[in-house]
Amino acid sequence: MNWINKMLVANAAALALWAMSAQAATNDEIAARLKPVGEVCVSGQECKGVAAVAASASGGGMSPDDVIAKHCNACHGAGVLGAPKIGDAAAWKTRADEQGGLDGLLAKAISGINAMPPKGTCATCSDDDLRGAVKKMSGL
Ligand code: HEC
Repeated sequence: MNWINKMLVANAAALALWAMSAQAATNDEIAARLKPVGEVCVSGQECKGVAAVAASASGGGMSPDDVIAKHCNACHGAGVLGAPKIGDAAAWKTRADEQGGLDGLLAKAISGINAMPPKGTCATCSDDDLRGAVKKMSGL
């Protein structure tokens, strides 16, 4: 073996060592990359973020103004198809007297009446959401 061959062998050994340590580093990096991004939510324990998503998905927590703006205003804003106008206290009072007050109006809002669609098209609205909207529109 001449000196050039010896150099090559030494280099190859060094290269092999370097490759092994590089592989180790790479394994650590892979392990870090494989770590889960989010935390697992266990049933029965508080889980951040999930409550907020559930609330918005169920339609709960909508303010009366939101419900009116998104669903009722289309007809009740201008009185389309004979809908009692928002803020027309006299028109709402007449209807309230006919239906037995706010609860009676709410029942009709839920079931629908003539050209008024059930729940005023807000399928995800709870009874309380609708009650808030009726209260606000009628001023009752
Ligand atoms: C497609 C149009 C339309 C939409 C949207 C609509 N309404 Fe109406 N609404 C009407 C019409 C028309 C009437 C009058 C029906 C009648 O007495 O013939 C009415 C009447 C009502 C009444 C009075 C019922 C009664 O017994 O006199 C309530 C309460 C009411 N709407 C609530 C709502 C609420 C709350 C929303 C939104 C969540 C809504 N409406 C959305 C058309 C609509």
